[in-house]
Amino acid sequence: MSRDFPARKRTAFERTRTQTALAPTDLDVIEGSSVGIIGESGSGKSTLVRLLLGLDRPTSGTVSVDGRRVDARASARSLHWLRRQTGLVFQDPYASLDPRMTAGQIVGEPLWALDIPGDRRARVREVLAQVGLEPEAVDRYPHEFSGGQRQRIALARAIAHRPRILVGDEPLSALDVTVRAQILELLVELRRTSDLTLVFVSHDIGVVQSLCDTVVVMKDGHVVERGSTRDVLLHPTQDYTKALLAAIPVIPGR
Ligand SMILES: Nc1ncnc2c1ncn2[C@@H]1O[C@H](COP(=O)(O)OP(=O)(O)O)[C@@H](O)[C@H]1O
Ligand SMILES: [Mg+2]
Repeated sequence: MSRDFPARKRTAFERTRTQTALAPTDLDVIEGSSVGIIGESGSGKSTLVRLLLGLDRPTSGTVSVDGRRVDARASARSLHWLRRQTGLVFQDPYASLDPRMTAGQIVGEPLWALDIPGDRRARVREVLAQVGLEPEAVDRYPHEFSGGQRQRIALARAIAHRPRILVGDEPLSALDVTVRAQILELLVELRRTSDLTLVFVSHDIGVVQSLCDTVVVMKDGHVVERGSTRDVLLHPTQDYTKALLAAIPVIPGR
């Protein structure tokens, strides 16, 4: 699929131009695998992820999950189905949580919205415990938590309905090093204990190394390199990838 946006006009009289956020791209995500997406800012990572989630319409091409069409022109039923299959965590744990809702309501929202059967309150408590939050967190509001705890809440919400696919758009970037390591452990554990498929945008190579089987490298809306995480990180073939890797500190021992 691809995605163009109207480019900003420089003068009122200029003809409308388009800017390609994502050039025609084929991406297969194998069930149960974990794909890392790296690339400089503005390279099209978020655009790609939004298309995969049916949050944005491709200018050309289609997106399907399990052979089912889920791009934004798909039926409401298919998009609902997609929401059931996917969980999403964004970068900013401050902006992504509704300040008027308690942590319990936030985490439980997908269970009610998607009409997930079972004891929903129990599931909320269970998933809060899973991300390392105290049971009392249920009745507290986002501003009562630290940034790291908020990102745990965001993660709990993303996994509450047991999605098969978890998508993160730089979910660890806003966190300090210690908290980042803790949440990373959580994600590694989650992958170990479930057959979650992961699509993970990150500019932290350590994160990609610990979490992803394969890596896609993006530049100016193009995939410039892809392959197993090991191959891409240890033996990058493109100068762009080499430069990108050189610019990012690698956590030793990971
Ligand atoms: N809604 C939008 N309207 C116009 N341009 C956009 C929009 N979203 C993204 N773009 C442009 O598309 C390009 C890719 O953006 P994005 O996918 O957000 O990159 P990344 O996530 O890698 O930083 C950028 O040049 C950005 O300015
Ligand atoms: Mg982005």
